[in-house]
Amino acid sequence: MIPFSDPSASYHAHKSEMDQAIKRVLDSGWYVLSSEVDAFEKEFASFHGKDLHALGVGNGTDAIALCLRGLDLGIGDEVITTSHTAVATVAGIEQAGCTPVFADIDPHTRCIAPESIDERVTTKTRAIMPVHIYGQPAEMHRILDIANVHNLAVIEDCSQAHGAEINGQKVGTFADISAYSCYPTKNLGGTGDGGVILCRSEEFAEKIKSLRQYGWNEARESVSPGFNSRLDELQAAILRVKLQHLADDNAKRRAIALRYNEAFKDLPITLPTLCETELHAMHLYVIECDQRNELMEYLRSDQIGASLHYPKAVHQHSAYKNRIRGWDNLPVTDQFYQRNLTLPMYPELSNDSVENIISTVQNWFQEEN
Ligand SMILES: Cc1ncc(COP(=O)(O)O)c(C=O)c1O
Repeated sequence: MIPFSDPSASYHAHKSEMDQAIKRVLDSGWYVLSSEVDAFEKEFASFHGKDLHALGVGNGTDAIALCLRGLDLGIGDEVITTSHTAVATVAGIEQAGCTPVFADIDPHTRCIAPESIDERVTTKTRAIMPVHIYGQPAEMHRILDIANVHNLAVIEDCSQAHGAEINGQKVGTFADISAYSCYPTKNLGGTGDGGVILCRSEEFAEKIKSLRQYGWNEARESVSPGFNSRLDELQAAILRVKLQHLADDNAKRRAIALRYNEAFKDLPITLPTLCETELHAMHLYVIECDQRNELMEYLRSDQIGASLHYPKAVHQHSAYKNRIRGWDNLPVTDQFYQRNLTLPMYPELSNDSVENIISTVQNWFQEEN
């Protein structure tokens, strides 16, 4: 079976560097929040630009919750996001005690639709959390304009978009605060859980350093109720290796996406947009088509791991059903979830596999018509 994503291929592609990094940590005797984390934080921040701070945390969901807690948001504070995301975005908002609100998505970017944010703003709204879904940058300039008008914080959920850019500027640097997951399948993925917060303010960075470790100050007194959400040294050392290859790996993903897009351009499929002014991180390659269940079964029977990201929008999960404001007015999201289909996408996907996937999709359309 050709999987839709293959973290072990990434390990094998960078095996000797990763093995050395792992050995270095095991030999050091320092396993949590130490020199590898420090180095990773510096490298991650400078990968994104000047005068930024990065803080390693336990996972992406915690990163979201910590960003909101760092802004002193909590009970009664509304955060506008999308239902078209990993459940983790919404779980992180609720973990901080905040109230998620759903805006609809734009049919082209599949990210939050700026005009839908405007419709959802109330006196309780405190923040907007755009998700750069599948690696596609959200419309950050329009989102920041709306945030300015209503005096709202913006936190970018960059968990699927490490290294994506708009006009040469990396996502994660448009807002003052951003959250990343480094789960193994991500473009920058470890071999276990991990997350990062990127921010501009040193004061905010210090607050996160405290919150991620029991709310401690330097004397190890808990000065605020904190979390335990620390990045471990093994993950940091592995992420340092992966960070060096991120731009190349993303370019390989985009090259595969261009081949798919070219091969499918005359088929009745909605394709991901690859636009000249943006660098799409191409975390997932997701098409839309009418008979997606039939196409998915056909591909699977041919050993191609087509899948759904996601099978359900967040407001369709029983845990969230009918209780998140906005859920009953998401026409674009609802339609998207009837037609979405994910095809295999990872930097190490071989030429033969790409050709096989392309011809199998083309065959299905030929047989159908
Ligand atoms: C968009 C998005 N946000 C947040 C997360 C949370 O990440 P984690 O699984 O590391 O908690 C993920 C990961 O699945 C994600 O895809």
